[in-house]
Amino acid sequence: MAETEKTIKLEYEVGKEEFSKAGIASSNIKKVLNQIGIDAAIVRRAAIATYESEINIVIHSEGGKIIVEISRDRIIIIAHDKGKGIDNIEKAMTKGFSTASHEAREMGFGAGMGLPNMKRISDQFSIESSKGADTIVEMIFNI
Ligand SMILES: Nc1ncnc2c1ncn2[C@@H]1O[C@H](COP(=O)(O)OP(=O)(O)OP(=O)(O)O)[C@@H](O)[C@H]1O
Ligand SMILES: [Mg+2]
Repeated sequence: MAETEKTIKLEYEVGKEEFSKAGIASSNIKKVLNQIGIDAAIVRRAAIATYESEINIVIHSEGGKIIVEISRDRIIIIAHDKGKGIDNIEKAMTKGFSTASHEAREMGFGAGMGLPNMKRISDQFSIESSKGADTIVEMIFNI
């Protein structure tokens, strides 16, 4: 008999400029992954990538959500916001490139390292966006 696959789904709203709430999704996801016994190094990578996604939604977008799907062999993390979009993805993916506001920079963000790091630490990374459109970042971590 085929083993039924259980999938855990989590979803978090992330508001525009809600600096005080940034970190809630990543710390919650970290807690859930630890509770179900995922390897500590994978938990750490997934939490960092989620945190970078949350901050990007807070500082660069009109708001959005983080969706997580945990199955037997992988963790899928999707950050989906409702604009303003990215007109040049290649440039956005370049280390050091940032359009972060003065306010965001004063809080320590804006090194232009979030997206390159998300790509580096995930097992699969994809980003879909264009000017004025939703930005959808998908990251997969193999368990
Ligand atoms: N969700 C998004 N919506 C619109 N633009 C985005 C989004 N995420 C990233 N960008 C654009 O891509 C650039 C690079 O993003 P990245 O996360 O690498 O750096 P950063 O957020 O500017 O700084 P850091 O992440 O180091 O604090 C941003 O400055 C912004 O111009
Ligand atoms: Mg960033």
